[in-house]
Formats: sequence, C-alpha cells, structure tokens
Amino acid sequence: NWQLDTSWIGRKIIFEKEIDSTQMLAKALADQGAAHGTVVLADKQTSGKGTKGRSWHSPAGTGIWMSLIIRPEFGPREAAQLTLAAAVALTRAFRKEGIDAEIKWPNDIYLNEKKLAGILTEMQAEQDYIHHIVLGIGININQKEKDLPPDIRDKATSLHIETQKEWKRQELIHLIWKELESVYAHYTKAGFASIREEWMQLASRLGRRVKVTTPTAIFEAVFQGIGAEGELLLEKTDGLTQRIYSAELEWIEE
Ligand code: BTN
Repeated sequence: NWQLDTSWIGRKIIFEKEIDSTQMLAKALADQGAAHGTVVLADKQTSGKGTKGRSWHSPAGTGIWMSLIIRPEFGPREAAQLTLAAAVALTRAFRKEGIDAEIKWPNDIYLNEKKLAGILTEMQAEQDYIHHIVLGIGININQKEKDLPPDIRDKATSLHIETQKEWKRQELIHLIWKELESVYAHYTKAGFASIREEWMQLASRLGRRVKVTTPTAIFEAVFQGIGAEGELLLEKTDGLTQRIYSAELEWIEE
C-alpha cells in the first residue's frame, strides 16, 4: 500500500519475502516483456549476486535488495555510464539523510571507508540496440556487526553500524527512486556530462594511487576521476593524463 510519487520507477512492484536473487527474477521478467520501471524487491535473497561472479549476502529484513528494469533510449555504448549515474543517485539520497556516503569507482558506495552498498548493472543487447538493463542495488541497512559474515566485517558496513539508528527501509527506497528518476532524466536529456561534476564531488579516492590493468598493459597511476563520457582519468608517472574507457583498478592502500 504505497503512496508513490514517482513517475515511472515502481509503477509495477513485485515483492518477494524470499527469493534466490531479485536480479535473476527481474532478468527473466524483462525477457518476457516486463515494463520499463518494473521493480523486483525482496526481504531476503538466498543467492544474491555481486559483481565479478561474487555472492551478495542478503539476510532477511535488514537490507534493501532490489532490481529495476530499464528499457533505455540510449545504446550499449552509454550503458556503462548508467552505473555511474545510479551511484550519484544513491549517494545523493544518502546525503539528504545526513549520511556522508561516497562513491567508490565504479559501482560501490562507501561510508567511513567501508562498503555500504553495491550496484550491479546487467544489459541484454544486440549490436546497437539495448533490449533492457537490469539495475540491481544492494544496501546494507539494519545489520548489526555480528550479522555481517566474518570475512567481510572489516570491509563492509551498514547504516545501523555507522549511525546506531534503526532505518525505515520503505522511506529510503522511495527517496532512492526519486533520486534515480531525477538523475536518469538529466542523463538522458543532457548527457552524462551534465552529471559528471556532481559525480566528482561525491567521489572518494581522487588523487589516490591505483594499479591499472587494461587489455594491453598493467601500470600504476593516480586516479583523477572521470571525464565527460564517464571514462577514467589517470595520471601516469610521466605526469600526463590518460583517458581510459575500459580497465580494472586496484586501489593501492597507503
Ligand atoms: C556488488 O558486487 O557490489 C553489487 C551488489 C549488488 C547486489 C544487489 S541486491 C539486489 C540485486 N539482486 C542481486 O542478486 N544482486 C543485486
């Protein structure tokens, strides 16, 4: 029974008490023609998916686990920017709640140097046409320290752990949908360049050293942020800035 004030996100909501993964259901529904803006939400995931084939711990009642179906007007080339845009929307929503979250390139949201949320963007496309994108968002909300798996306890956190408050998931979900719509509208009308500056303001680790792996080289550089198309800006040891469209980064802890 939600009072929705969004224009397209969540016009159709599928809620499951327990599911393997909202991402898998959303992809299946999208294949069957589910509408732009459909959201799959779950209280608990038994097989939550992270990036790079990793799993995503999604216990009952403590987090926001959701997948949004998008049928974009842009093409596959722009799709990587959507993850960056979604990170802006999420971080904006947190900041509105007084939470000092930061974007860690490309798809993580950090709070006090620990991971609070992750974004998983998956696309079904052929050549120049995107059938759909499923934008998965996982946010640790009310977990206590002991609820986090031991192997991620020093790297991950929740809103509760950082603020000592119990958060209402439903209100946060609505706030996030509003911000997603707002960022998406900007992005599709004015292009990624129109949100790049905000991304830079919300980003962490600018000026930090990274190990860069591209299909053809491995080198160290200083992370300077992103350019107008969402490409990486890296300062190499010779002082020149290089723009890279596809690379893996490993942060060098100093
Ligand atoms: C990451 O590795 O940081 C991305 C995590 C994405 C997790 C969310 S939770 C909702 C959706 N369903 C999944 O199985 N994964 C995403």
